[in-house]
Amino acid sequence: MQTDLIQRLPKAELHLHIEGSFEPELMMALAERNRITLPFKTLEDARAAYNFSNLQEFLDLYYQGMQVLRTEEDFFDLTWAYLQRAEADNVRHVEMFYDPQAHTERGVPFGVVTDGILAAIKKGEQELGISSYLIMSFLRHLSEEDGFDLLVQSEPWHDKFIGVGLDSSEMGHPPLKFERLYQRCRELGFKLCMHAGEEGPPSYVREALLDIGVDRIDHGNRCMEDPELVSMIREMQIPLTNCPLSNLSLCVIDDLKQSPVKAQLEAGLLVTVNSDDPAYFGGYIGRNYEQTAAALGLSDQQLIQLARNSFTASFLPEANKQRHLAAIETAA
Ligand code: ADE
Ligand code: ZN
Repeated sequence: MQTDLIQRLPKAELHLHIEGSFEPELMMALAERNRITLPFKTLEDARAAYNFSNLQEFLDLYYQGMQVLRTEEDFFDLTWAYLQRAEADNVRHVEMFYDPQAHTERGVPFGVVTDGILAAIKKGEQELGISSYLIMSFLRHLSEEDGFDLLVQSEPWHDKFIGVGLDSSEMGHPPLKFERLYQRCRELGFKLCMHAGEEGPPSYVREALLDIGVDRIDHGNRCMEDPELVSMIREMQIPLTNCPLSNLSLCVIDDLKQSPVKAQLEAGLLVTVNSDDPAYFGGYIGRNYEQTAAALGLSDQQLIQLARNSFTASFLPEANKQRHLAAIETAA
């Protein structure tokens, strides 16, 4: 059974917004702890609201939900809950995004957010054996100057991040808006990730790849409209972090059968499967593998390739990658 194979395969998750793993149960518990009133009363009400027709509709709820997060303990609890779910799906390595500006702009200090997440990451390494890297994301609906402010504010923690990302509303906020900021991040030695081609046109993926020089493209779906771009992505082996259930929830595709994952595997792209915002999109990484395999008729070999790609595309040192890749061969 493919479900068993998917479960057995060690996996890395490379596209996960930790605030997007905020399950309504935990949200309600933290709202009570912090004496905050939520706009919904029951879990059913919350889930009923998770019905999106585009990225912006989701983002509005996502930013609303995270307002409940106030203390270091809240950020710890959020991250720890995710790591336990990840372990249940046999995830062995995580590279997680977080959105500090969404917290600092409502008065929660950068250190409260970051230290809470880091404490859970440490516990995950010690108690679950899951390694995690943190990727600090800039909100692209804000200005490049706001991004520079965050970069300065985060200086005491720079050794705690592996890289930077760019997320939030894509349309109208092309990669080149952040050219100078990304140049600075490269000089500082950060890995460069960027959401591109989720809703935005293929030209945004081109900019991310050729003008910014990213190390990894998040989503990247719409590169498939530009065959020359696909060839470049293949030749450069720039990873794509696809998120099938997210694509379905946000109407990037109308049906999982339209997911580009199989076509990208067959085109020799370094594509990976991830959960993005699992609490909002109906499933963690295991479910993303399962539903994608079922919809596209992926072979066992293709599932194994996706698990391999997840480590190959990670920012782990080469020796760690090889250790995980060997474990995949044993599990397969
Ligand atoms: N922030 C959280 N999830 C996101 C997504 N899928 N696209 C852009 N920004 C996000
Ligand atoms: Zn994302």
